[in-house]
Amino acid sequence: MAIVFSGVRPSGEIHLGNYLGAIKVWVELQREHQCFYCIVDLHAISTPYNPKDLKKNIVKTCLAYLVAGIDSKKSVLFLQSLVPEHTELAWLLGTLVPVGDLTRMTQYKEKVKKHKQAKAGLLNYPILQSADILLYRAELVPVGRDQIQHIELCREIASRFNRTFGKFFPLPKPFLSEGEKIRSLTDPTKKMSKTDNPQSYISLFDPPDLIYQKILKAVTDSGKEIRFSPLKKPGISNLLLIYALISGKEIKKVEEDFEGKSYLELKKSLAELLIDELEPFRLALKEHSESEIIKVLKEGAEKAKEVAQENLAQVKELMGLRV
Ligand code: TYM
Repeated sequence: MAIVFSGVRPSGEIHLGNYLGAIKVWVELQREHQCFYCIVDLHAISTPYNPKDLKKNIVKTCLAYLVAGIDSKKSVLFLQSLVPEHTELAWLLGTLVPVGDLTRMTQYKEKVKKHKQAKAGLLNYPILQSADILLYRAELVPVGRDQIQHIELCREIASRFNRTFGKFFPLPKPFLSEGEKIRSLTDPTKKMSKTDNPQSYISLFDPPDLIYQKILKAVTDSGKEIRFSPLKKPGISNLLLIYALISGKEIKKVEEDFEGKSYLELKKSLAELLIDELEPFRLALKEHSESEIIKVLKEGAEKAKEVAQENLAQVKELMGLRV
């Protein structure tokens, strides 16, 4: 049994990329492992945001975890800011990280381009992410491909800590799934992202007509053949991959099923599949109250704290911070 940690930033709508690249895998991992699944609100405030929307996004993200099948009795499901040990460990780890390691991060460079006058919080983001993982001495981190560089940095920080103060942290490994990179519907050369234009992603809470309209408008490739070839046909390959992951069929089988059919037929069929798959998310919005969800997150935070406090105390001891 391994210790697993992962999280989603509650910025904007939780989408199909988060679902297929991360959350669906989390559900499987909780069967055999001790899992900590977090809503990383402190990460969400590292770029401009509206405080009024933050709570709504936290609640929707937590609801998405629950509907997808995260069991709050089996896994520890909690809100990052309710466990202040995350920020304390981030400070301690920050003393070990060369600034150059942070400025070379791809996500940092991309975000700096987007948000002029980037703040220190954005630069330090990967240190907080490392603290999230190491606070629980996690060994496995199920994420999409875009997070690999951050996990590699986390490994470096862990091994630097171990070399400097004595072996304490395991070196966490990323865990990728077939859905590691779901692409944007409007530009399939890029990943699907919640900070892009809403036409480019399917939110887990989108109503049926909107799902239908977004999939039918999805950018596809020249030609007519329905074939999986991410380099030559990124648009169609993305739709085929989503179809396969949702239906549980092999991509080859989906290709065969649509042989000789048109792009439009594939799109209509995929839209119907998605409308069905995502129905429980839409229904849950009406069925669960905000207070009920917040209660789950608070109870989870109490469980997380038990482990977090114990590990942080040991880290401080090793660093000579015990008087
Ligand atoms: P975030 O909120 O951007 O994304 C949450 C998870 O979804 C994955 N993901 C995707 N997977 C496939 N295709 C896509 N288009 C796609 N878009 C997003 C992400 O890889 C991620 O696994 N920094 C992290 C949150 C975080 C974290 C952590 C993750 C904070 N601390 C500790 C793991 C461990 C982030 O912004 O993810």
